[in-house]
Amino acid sequence: MANEKTYAMLKPGVLERKIVGEIISRFEKKGLRIAALKLRKIPRELCEQHYAEHKDKPFFSELVNYVTGGPVVTMVISGEEAISTVRKICGATKPAEAAPGTIRGDYGAVVTKNVIHASDSPESAAREIKLFFETEEVIDYPTGDETYLV
Ligand SMILES: Nc1ncnc2c1ncn2[C@@H]1O[C@H](COP(=O)(O)OP(=O)(O)O)[C@@H](O)[C@H]1O
Ligand SMILES: [Mg+2]
Repeated sequence: MANEKTYAMLKPGVLERKIVGEIISRFEKKGLRIAALKLRKIPRELCEQHYAEHKDKPFFSELVNYVTGGPVVTMVISGEEAISTVRKICGATKPAEAAPGTIRGDYGAVVTKNVIHASDSPESAAREIKLFFETEEVIDYPTGDETYLV
């Protein structure tokens, strides 16, 4: 078991559909903790850096257009095994393949608009948190988890 921090980002459709609270509450109910949270429109260059591993893929410009086309919610989520746990709660990349009960399985229809991004490894988490947040914006605080989770 390891306490980890991961980066997650709610894509613009979540703001349009007004389901920000529903999505974030899934992480809270699981016992994970919001360590940083911001609503913003991200510049194209930052979005391209974030998705740099996909820059040669055919869907790259459609993805960047979508994610920069409206506000997103950027977050750092922390907790036990947060990186893999958050990925599991999000579900498979393609909403059609994402299991019911996962965020993408329950709210997604189209792969570009698959509701949420989440870091896929410790290296990605560290890189992405640094891209979107200053060190002092990521906050550790007690939640009393040990009384009911540990
Ligand atoms: N074949 C595809 N066609 C269109 N968009 C895609 C495709 N594959 C991935 N994407 C988009 O690019 C994002 C990043 O892809 P990837 O890193 O493979 O998935 P994940 O977000 O699950 O880590 C996905 O969340 C999705 O919105
Ligand atoms: Mg990815």
